[in-house]
Amino acid sequence: MSLFRKKSLDILMSQAADSEKGLKRTLGVGSLIALGIGAIIGAGLFVRTAAAAGEHAGAAVTISFIVAAIGCAFAGLCYAEFASMIPIAGSAYTYAYATMGELIAWIIGWALILEYALGAATVSIAWSEFLNKLLGGSVPYEWSHSPFEKALDANNVMHHGILNAPALIILLLLSLLLIKGTKESATVNGIIVIVKVAIVLVFIAVGWQFINPANHHPYMIPADAPKAALPDGSMYDYSSFFRHGWGGVLAGAGTVFFAFIGFDAVSTAAQEAKNPKKDMPIGILGSLAICTILYILFSWVLTGVAPYTDFLKSGKEASVAYAIETYMHGFGWLGTMVTVAILAGFSSVILVMLMGQSRVFYTMSTDGLLPKVFSDLHPKFRTPYKSNIILLVFVGLFAAFVPGSVAGDLTSIGTLFAFVLVSAGVWIMRVNEPQRLRPFKTPLVPLVPILGILVCSAMIFSLDNRTLLTALAWMLIGLLVYFGYSKNNSILKSPGDILPKAKDFE
Ligand code: ALA
Repeated sequence: MSLFRKKSLDILMSQAADSEKGLKRTLGVGSLIALGIGAIIGAGLFVRTAAAAGEHAGAAVTISFIVAAIGCAFAGLCYAEFASMIPIAGSAYTYAYATMGELIAWIIGWALILEYALGAATVSIAWSEFLNKLLGGSVPYEWSHSPFEKALDANNVMHHGILNAPALIILLLLSLLLIKGTKESATVNGIIVIVKVAIVLVFIAVGWQFINPANHHPYMIPADAPKAALPDGSMYDYSSFFRHGWGGVLAGAGTVFFAFIGFDAVSTAAQEAKNPKKDMPIGILGSLAICTILYILFSWVLTGVAPYTDFLKSGKEASVAYAIETYMHGFGWLGTMVTVAILAGFSSVILVMLMGQSRVFYTMSTDGLLPKVFSDLHPKFRTPYKSNIILLVFVGLFAAFVPGSVAGDLTSIGTLFAFVLVSAGVWIMRVNEPQRLRPFKTPLVPLVPILGILVCSAMIFSLDNRTLLTALAWMLIGLLVYFGYSKNNSILKSPGDILPKAKDFE
């Protein structure tokens, strides 16, 4: 039974209450919402909206955003119940430990590394690309690409990457900020969030006047839409199921799902919230709701300004700047501001992902499943500084030496897997511990958790086989670590030594 031993709610509560020794409770409801928005608005909005419109959904990418938001809302409602009930830093990992036992908790903790650590690495590589764009390409190719990448320049000279220095620099700066303090990090995050939300709002307000109603008709791509030219000269055919109509809207939802990743990171800060019972649900659901509204308006304007077929041809990454420069005459400055918003957006995504990862490791380490070094707190700042430094090395190696294209979908798998288990966990906990105090209750249980499980599982299986196999291989490595180290070091092996109050282990 030891594989399925559970951490009782009483122990979790006593850990949450024991805040003298632990992380500092400094975050109010505004900071929590900002933390969510900080992690949510990034590459998904600025890069993937145009890709989803051009390749799958056309102007109806706005409906794709609504579909993805509904899927996230099911999971978000489940997260909100747990986060208000168990205000511990470990998020999905902790909830699984309390409901499904140690092995599943370990698996989910291991999967969260894909979401947070790999997510941070991926976004730092994209940050480096955009910085170079803003600087007019002045960072040499060698010092802004991994050794696995090469390219010919305009004079036909071949360049090989050495390491991605800008990605390393942004990771270093943000890690130092995290070590300095959660409050300081939240303040910087708050400023970044104001900048990026302001620029999104300006784009919506200015762009609204440039909407050409013809671009919204027909709203979905028709099955007999003419083929469109790709940059390499070949033709893109819209006739297959996932490239027009409702099929295209669904495939578009899979693409823009990435834009919502991050609202769950709010729950990793539960142990640093001043009033987690009330503020956690507001932080999680509030940031999700605000971003959904912004995404709907943004995608409506973007596809109104430029016809969707343009997004197949013009550099997908710079799609928003392209739409501004081509169709919004006199507003070239807004294109530069959008690039600044993208850089700011990416920075806060990386910041919150790094923070989330260190908080999950913190809790796994206090449980004995990871070495103690991951929960050592800085004597003055009370942040898990050693963990931040180890993460910097791990994420930094990845960002410096691995091409960015490798990691995007793996991040989505890790996230979706967590969503499935959190949804299941809420239902299990309702059955096993119905009498517990739940400051926030997920409505319509078990319907909402079941829908959360179904929608998120469907999105997992819609990802390509190579990504699924890589995730499986990652999980097998995780099992080796669990059976080689964690199982024997778990504090639940001899709970009496650690937490005298614990009495109800399985
Ligand atoms: N939601 C985050 C982004 O879009 C991960 O960059």
